[in-house]
Amino acid sequence: MLKTGLVGWRGMVGSVLMQRMEEEGDFALITPQFFTTSQAGKAAPALGGKDNGVLADAYDIRALGQQDVVISCQGGDYTKDVYPKLRESGWQGYWIDAASTLRMADDAIIVLDPVNADVINQGLDTGIKTYVGGNCTVSLMLLALGGLFEKGLVEWVAPMTYQAASGSGAQNMRELITQMGAIHSDVRDQLDNPATAILDIDRQVSEFINSEEYPKDHFGVPLAGSLIPYIDSQLDSGQSREEWKAQVEANKIMGSGDRQIPIDGLCVRVGAMRCHSQAMTMKLTQDLPLAEIEAILAAHNDWVKVIPNDREASMKELTPAAVTGTLSIPVGRIRKLNMGPEYISAFTVGDQLLWGAAEPLRRMLRILLN
Ligand code: HSE
Repeated sequence: MLKTGLVGWRGMVGSVLMQRMEEEGDFALITPQFFTTSQAGKAAPALGGKDNGVLADAYDIRALGQQDVVISCQGGDYTKDVYPKLRESGWQGYWIDAASTLRMADDAIIVLDPVNADVINQGLDTGIKTYVGGNCTVSLMLLALGGLFEKGLVEWVAPMTYQAASGSGAQNMRELITQMGAIHSDVRDQLDNPATAILDIDRQVSEFINSEEYPKDHFGVPLAGSLIPYIDSQLDSGQSREEWKAQVEANKIMGSGDRQIPIDGLCVRVGAMRCHSQAMTMKLTQDLPLAEIEAILAAHNDWVKVIPNDREASMKELTPAAVTGTLSIPVGRIRKLNMGPEYISAFTVGDQLLWGAAEPLRRMLRILLN
């Protein structure tokens, strides 16, 4: 059984990963060693229903070096610090990481096996030892549109995102709920009185969300009652870093080589909890009937689900509320746009913590175990 070191298992992505590994019986197939940045020597969690000994120090290069595989959900700073030291020590094990630090490195592969099993297998054959989960919106987009990409039918895509609070972290999810509650508390009395004019309530809400009293320590600006039209840092290209990732990561995942498919759009944070949504405008390489497009999308993987482009089904099945906590990747609102017969729209939703973060990592472990 592969000795598998688990780092960052207590955080939000790590917890989702542990939950999925338990559900899928992964612990029965590995010898886990849990690592910690602060509690070395304490009892490890009894995940997988077994005694997992004691926690090892996550900065102990020797202890990490004894693992066949290390899975890290500890974050980019940890990877930046520990990974080079571990490799310099001569460690030849497999490093599986949720952080973005190593994604674009030449000797790393971005893992999303329903889309790039061939790229992963080729990497394994050629001795690549570093496998990194992709950016959440990129992975979710590729799972939704995989069929069209696989068949070379996409000339370009402009994904406009509606990203959930979870992408900013656990504290931000808490702050979103706090903001929602604070708005309600501020106008509760007026809301309870049917005689209060809605424009008076609206004025009070607007003053409150722009005031110093509004809770925004983590986001820095209001999210509930508003939105945030910029995610991650600013680049000289005019793109945000999140927007830059779409094309470079998607093409790397698909192994596009010199045939880079243009993928570019705006990334926006909205008041959803943990599901990212994306509205896509696509230009296809040819004019295909909608039924054929839908059939190609639906056949690509076990998780994508084509939702008919009608009001009832879209409102019920194509929302963060419907998808949260599941591995389902619904894609709908598929129709031809007025710009011409090759131009189509699509809207997709996916859980940012599952397919957007944890699931590709545990599936990579499974590939190593096969
Ligand atoms: N960068 C993403 C977001 C999450 O901010 O929503 C991590 O992939």
